[in-house]
Amino acid sequence: MSTESGTESLTSAVLESFAETPNQRLKEILGSLTKHLHAFIAEVEPSIEEWEAGIDFLTATGQKCDSVRQEFILLSDVLGVSMLVETINDAETPDATDSTVLGPFHMVESPKRGLGENISPESEGDICVVRGRILSVTGQPIPRASIDVWQANMEGFYDVQQPGIQSIGNGRGLFTADDNGEFYFRSVVPSYYPIPTDGPVGDLLAATNRHPNRPAHIHFIVAAPGYKELTTHIFVGGSEYIESDAVFAVKESLIKPFTTNTDPDAAAAFGVNSPFVEGLIDIVLHPEIHAHTPTHETTKEIVR
Ligand code: BEZ
Ligand code: FE
Repeated sequence: MSTESGTESLTSAVLESFAETPNQRLKEILGSLTKHLHAFIAEVEPSIEEWEAGIDFLTATGQKCDSVRQEFILLSDVLGVSMLVETINDAETPDATDSTVLGPFHMVESPKRGLGENISPESEGDICVVRGRILSVTGQPIPRASIDVWQANMEGFYDVQQPGIQSIGNGRGLFTADDNGEFYFRSVVPSYYPIPTDGPVGDLLAATNRHPNRPAHIHFIVAAPGYKELTTHIFVGGSEYIESDAVFAVKESLIKPFTTNTDPDAAAAFGVNSPFVEGLIDIVLHPEIHAHTPTHETTKEIVR
């Protein structure tokens, strides 16, 4: 006679239904998901109305998604899941620059720009120059790495959130580092901003008395052949909400002072008026890691 309770045998039956899954990684993921999800339900013991409310919440989250809005990424972000995934994957490359969340607004191609160009030509605010080097973990410069950057305007909106107000590409730039791995671009000093609250994720924040704000930052994706691609931010030191990012994405190492540079020669070299605000970040890439990647890729294809 089985000693399993009704709920345990149900969990076993679902696990058993995945027994013939040919992709072992997919089988592992679905098995773990089943175990944890069933344990969660067994612990919470939702009423039918609560279960329906959960289904309605997830349905509304999906329905809020379109080509410029990704409410599921936002949900993953505010639950700390995006940051957990980043942190787990970051552990493989401890000597590289820390990664942080992608966020939901990397959804259009950034315009190619020349070094020094202004990424925010339509934005008002204090002019800043952001510059640094792309280095390997050995300290060698990586020539000609690609650097994709994006940021919100002073009102806290990305271009894709303000059709008719901002052109697509305002606040974005795709740069190529020079032969010494150096890059620089102009922009406006970013400000803190709220993540979108006009959807189910906003309702969740309101219901839990959480604020929706992110500290001031600029997003980066840095890539070079032979290196692991890095998704990260530079956070403006001293920004409001640096201690309580709504998406838990701040890492101490990514907070950089944005300081005033009073050197008129530097201003002339960067094509800005003196004095100007300057943010410095050197970005360290780790050589490409091949282990696990094919299995994860296959999993992605299968569950898509
Ligand atoms: C962002 O920084 O663009 C962002 C990240 C997570 C959620 C919402 C926005
Ligand atoms: Fe952002």
